[in-house]
Amino acid sequence: MNILFASSEVAPFIKSGGLADVAGSLPQAMAQLGHDVRVILPLYERIGGEWREQMTFLQNYNIHLAWRTPYCGIFELKRDGVTYYFVDNEYYFKRWEIYGHFDDAERFAFFSRAVIETPGHVGFFPDIIHCNDWQTALVPIYLLSERNLVPELRGAKSVFTIHNIEYQGRYGREVLENVFGLDQSYCHERMLAYYNDVNMMKGAIYAADYVTTVSPSYAEELRYDFYAHGLAGVVADNAHKIRGILNGIDVNRYDPRKDKGLAKTFSDKSLKGKAECKAALQEMAGLEKDPEAPIVACVSRLVSHKGFDLVSGAIHDIMGTGAQMVVLGTGEWRYEEAFRQAAWQYPGRFSAQIMYSDPFATAIYGGADLFLMPSVAEPCGLSQMIAMRYGTLPVVRETGGLRDSVQPYNQYTGEGTGFSFANVDQGDMTWALRQAIELYYANRKTWTALQKNAMTSDFSWTRSAKDYEEVYHWVTGG
Ligand code: GLC
Repeated sequence: MNILFASSEVAPFIKSGGLADVAGSLPQAMAQLGHDVRVILPLYERIGGEWREQMTFLQNYNIHLAWRTPYCGIFELKRDGVTYYFVDNEYYFKRWEIYGHFDDAERFAFFSRAVIETPGHVGFFPDIIHCNDWQTALVPIYLLSERNLVPELRGAKSVFTIHNIEYQGRYGREVLENVFGLDQSYCHERMLAYYNDVNMMKGAIYAADYVTTVSPSYAEELRYDFYAHGLAGVVADNAHKIRGILNGIDVNRYDPRKDKGLAKTFSDKSLKGKAECKAALQEMAGLEKDPEAPIVACVSRLVSHKGFDLVSGAIHDIMGTGAQMVVLGTGEWRYEEAFRQAAWQYPGRFSAQIMYSDPFATAIYGGADLFLMPSVAEPCGLSQMIAMRYGTLPVVRETGGLRDSVQPYNQYTGEGTGFSFANVDQGDMTWALRQAIELYYANRKTWTALQKNAMTSDFSWTRSAKDYEEVYHWVTGG
């Protein structure tokens, strides 16, 4: 099959969150299944010279975006069996921040037009156009009319993946004709209309031939207002074509046997190296060099839906267990401040790393004992899977992909790959964490067995890529 995969961020070129990781690894897995996969993304200012050197300029043309005809240059790069198209327009993308501009609606409408118009210019006949989140949500809508106009798009079906329903692309109705270039017929209740606005994600859920989200549990949760952020009715109305498929991770990139970022490599056969990683982490984070103290870690954006009200409220309880703690990430000031204060109050035992750092994250995945992720909502979550690969046991709330990827410890059978709790409740979280810490102190044999279970769990894309393939076949009737 010919697959065009559209995403506003793709690792390793440009990344702000988990979407980039998925867009950077799912296409490869699909290519390995024998498909012709091409990924299209904006050529942002921040995409570095080392990548630009490897690109070749293919062509340029002018896009149709309402009354505008902006320039669109296409650069091509081939890597790991996948072709990447970079969409160049300096007016829209020569800016340091990738999101958060006054004209984001126009910038991503432009990009979505580029996704629709590029196949006709490069002579690619996609069977599937796979779009992701609100930034490419207009693509399935454009495709409704465009597949009658462009021969290359005649056989194309659209698949839309929701990575996070919280960000929907909601704008005033004035953007419909003037920016999106769509007429009033698209502004009805089973398309873009949403109260007095237009809602791009809503439109995509109606217009796409199929909709997926990034875990089976999240697909279930989207039926409830608590998770669906105003789109529960829309999800219910389209339930017949919505399915959850758990993300994978790049298991070659995250491999404790060969990760060069670790102080010492290790494997599920021999965990000795992990002790050295722990010592290195304690050194790096300014924690006391104590091989016996369990290290509880958080690597995350410090925002409320990641559960940081629970974490910041439980600091003293956690310190009371004798554990050490390290938090890495930036975000809301009140959480940053709570962690800075904790570091000041518990020197050598609490480490607040208020920054974003890949090397530090690797040191944590490798050296910590417990990975705390009590998200209020988590469509999939990737870091709990990465932590498990490195034998760092997750403590998670049972929601979305956390529920689908972590098997809670069963004290009767000894099975499990981590620990979990059900309610958004600080007491419940500390209870789960205490249970974990007690096991760490009291029963090292079971602990090591859990580590091995976690490390040998299959988080590769192989399984999920097959599920996507099934969706592609279903929509194309192939
Ligand atoms: C979003 C979600 C996260 C998911 C990621 C990749 O960032 O919040 O849970 O893992 O997308 O699908």
